[in-house]
Amino acid sequence: MRYVVTGAAGFIGSHLGEALAAAGHETTGIDCFTDYYDPALKEENAQGLDVRRLDLSADELDFSGFDGVFHLAGRPGVRSFGPVFGDYLRRNVLATQRVFEAAVAAGVRVVFASSSSIYGDAERHPTPEETEPQPVSPYGITKLACEHLGRAYARGFRLDVVSLRYFTVYGPRQRPDMAFARILRALHDASPFELYGDGKQSRSFTFVSDAVAATVSAMEGGTGVYNVGGGAEATMLEAISTAERISGRTLDVRRLAAAAGDVRRTAAETSRIRADLGWKARVGLEEGLQAQWEWVAGSR
Ligand code: UGA
Repeated sequence: MRYVVTGAAGFIGSHLGEALAAAGHETTGIDCFTDYYDPALKEENAQGLDVRRLDLSADELDFSGFDGVFHLAGRPGVRSFGPVFGDYLRRNVLATQRVFEAAVAAGVRVVFASSSSIYGDAERHPTPEETEPQPVSPYGITKLACEHLGRAYARGFRLDVVSLRYFTVYGPRQRPDMAFARILRALHDASPFELYGDGKQSRSFTFVSDAVAATVSAMEGGTGVYNVGGGAEATMLEAISTAERISGRTLDVRRLAAAAGDVRRTAAETSRIRADLGWKARVGLEEGLQAQWEWVAGSR
């Protein structure tokens, strides 16, 4: 098959590109190599992949001849208040609308990377897909807007689209602004880690190979929206002590106030994706953090 992966130089996108190539698919990556975090890291991520420099919010897009588009590009991160909002609108909402237009024109299926952050402070945990979305971050609001755009294009123009709500994905090459990347870097460098809030906030942490497997399956089947969440939920304090055990070091934790846009808890109900696509998370927190620690310890 011939696939497009947008955001191919990013964390999840680069793993997806590798997995598709390993499975024998012809894959073209797209990335605009934004500088909101170190572009050199993205260059590293993209090594070995065919990644074209393109701005989805402005450049011409032509997906004809491809069998599907994995749309993972976007401005990530829930701590998204303030003047950066224009960038979230452009890189998430506008870029996605343009990807959907081009996908309709070419008649190709799209797997769209949504986020658990569309739930906000969810009414139910574990949270099934039909729970009312109540995002508490500007970022989550843009991801929800993209899901709605997908539905509107499906209804109006028969766009073939499926949205995946990823739950806090981690693993080797994780975005450097995310908690585990910072924790493991701090353990490695003996530098401090700033913990937002009391550390009792919890997440359905999802290992990147599980997220990739779900993403590939969603190109092959399924419809609507799916939660993609790791099997076991953990608090930040639990994750920190697991990371300390794995590294054999003690983390220097500095406590800060809770961050606006952060939710208290995410917990994925994954029976829908299991029933439709046969997917379930396979990598536990201990094993996944071990792999990420080995990458951090070996990479620099
Ligand atoms: C992550 C991603 O950043 C989003 O792009 C993604 O859409 C989202 O998951 C999701 O699942 O929807 P988040 O859960 O905030 O968002 O992921 P982390 O950055 O790994 O944060 C996890 C927890 O660690 C949060 O409670 C956060 O407040 C805390 N944290 C993070 C710190 O205490 N210190 C830090 O330096 C960074």
